[in-house]
Amino acid sequence: MLIAIASDHGGYELKEKVKEHLRERGEKMVDLGTNSKESVDYPVYGKACAEAVAGGKAERGIVICGTGIGISIAANKVKGIRCGLCTSVEMAELTRAHNDANMLALGGRVLDHRLALKIVDAFLDTEFEGGRHRRRVDMLDEL
Ligand code: RB5
Repeated sequence: MLIAIASDHGGYELKEKVKEHLRERGEKMVDLGTNSKESVDYPVYGKACAEAVAGGKAERGIVICGTGIGISIAANKVKGIRCGLCTSVEMAELTRAHNDANMLALGGRVLDHRLALKIVDAFLDTEFEGGRHRRRVDMLDEL
């Protein structure tokens, strides 16, 4: 699976840990920045990652800012993106199973980093359930 990943400065440290984890899992990835802890604007990175996923350059996206909130708002403004902000493994499983989320948002300053890696695994390993959830996801895409 090709995964696009991006963060602002608040998510940079966790992004580097997620990248290492993705490498260990044998995933292909494209890192869209940022590349340091220097202050940058999260909408730029949320948009870049979301456009990579919506445009078919990556199958899934992972975005990280301090809380995960700002960068998930940015990602969800791009047509075709369903970005779930997750703070637990159960939320990651459910945003895949029920929302067919194609992007995951994490908060680098508010989440234990070991838990964050478990959330990444759940996001990548859980299938969409389809069925009644298909119709609702279609409704989201029509908004
Ligand atoms: C940056 O200081 C911070 O506002 C950002 O990382 C994020 O938490 C916004 O939602």
